[in-house]
Amino acid sequence: MRVLITGSSGQIGTNLGLKLQAEGHDVFGVDIRPNQWTDKINTTLQDLSVRYDNHKGGIGAVAYPADLDIVVHLAAHAKVHELVAHPWRAMENMMMVFNAAEFCRQNDLPIIFSSSRETYGNLPAEDFVVEESFANFKNAASPYSATKLGGEALIYSYARCYDLRYLIFRFSNVYGRYDNDILRMERVIPLFIYRISRDEPITVYGRDKLLDFTYVDDCVAGVSAGIDKLVAGTVENHTINLAYGQGRSLLDMTEYIAAAVGKQPNMTIEESLLGEVKHYIANIGKARALLDYTPTTTLEEGITKCVPWSLDWWAQNGVQ
Ligand SMILES: NC(=O)c1ccc[n+]([C@@H]2O[C@H](COP(=O)([O-])OP(=O)(O)OC[C@H]3O[C@@H](n4cnc5c(N)ncnc54)[C@H](O)[C@@H]3O)[C@@H](O)[C@H]2O)c1
Repeated sequence: MRVLITGSSGQIGTNLGLKLQAEGHDVFGVDIRPNQWTDKINTTLQDLSVRYDNHKGGIGAVAYPADLDIVVHLAAHAKVHELVAHPWRAMENMMMVFNAAEFCRQNDLPIIFSSSRETYGNLPAEDFVVEESFANFKNAASPYSATKLGGEALIYSYARCYDLRYLIFRFSNVYGRYDNDILRMERVIPLFIYRISRDEPITVYGRDKLLDFTYVDDCVAGVSAGIDKLVAGTVENHTINLAYGQGRSLLDMTEYIAAAVGKQPNMTIEESLLGEVKHYIANIGKARALLDYTPTTTLEEGITKCVPWSLDWWAQNGVQ
């Protein structure tokens, strides 16, 4: 298969690209910046947030490889707080979805769109195990959530108006390899690994926050199953939760990291930040039924894998 991945220099794109290549597929990446972890993914550098109209064989004047089978659209400003502070970046996310959808429309390709548990916002307690049908645009918790709801809506409209074939995955707190560029993205797990291992203080925002952490190998296994089935035409036009299917607190997560690092955390606990989703447990029944999705890595196991990976990577790359 020939797969174009937008956002291929990011966490999920890097893991997915390398997995697909290892399975013998041809992977072509597009990103605004080079990949800092690997040079194995052939990457076209392009800003996808600019409006382009001609997408025949590429986007704007940039030609993409021919005979593609599918596009996986991951490119986005993916940090909730950053978009609360700079809401115009939400508009750039929408333009990126437009460019990816137009490219697929003009080249008759199916698309996978990376959405988020953010589409659910903060639901009442009785809805804590969240099914796909619970998403509601009125619940958008932040401009980032709005771009995922809006991006999904654009894909649904393209399916109706232009027969675009799609799968939408709603990811949740993906962690593991290729996520430790903490100067660019302050993701909580690599940030805590970094700080606790250096005896630096950490702040937990939300004592009661309950989140569904997904080990990256489980996430990309689900996406990869979706690619196979969408290209084969056996599963199409569905929106699917991809997560582990269990809620864990930030305090549990901190405890596992501290144990794996062998240090006591110097921890302060504060209220959740503006725009954050505070409770989320995914119902993953649809992913199981449609894709045979079976996540295997608990948070505790995932952390015991990603702590040594991150510490080794920082040591080998001279990160102080
Ligand atoms: N990782 C998670 O926990 C998670 C959860 C829910 C949804 N998602 C979504 O999944 C997708 C992938 O997430 P990720 O964690 O790999 O994010 P990431 O930030 O690591 O990767 C996104 C990539 O998009 C690229 N990008 C940003 N602006 C661009 C532009 N203008 N033109 C071209 N490329 C651009 C970035 O350079 C980056 O490499 C994102 O759309 C994100 O919103 C991720």
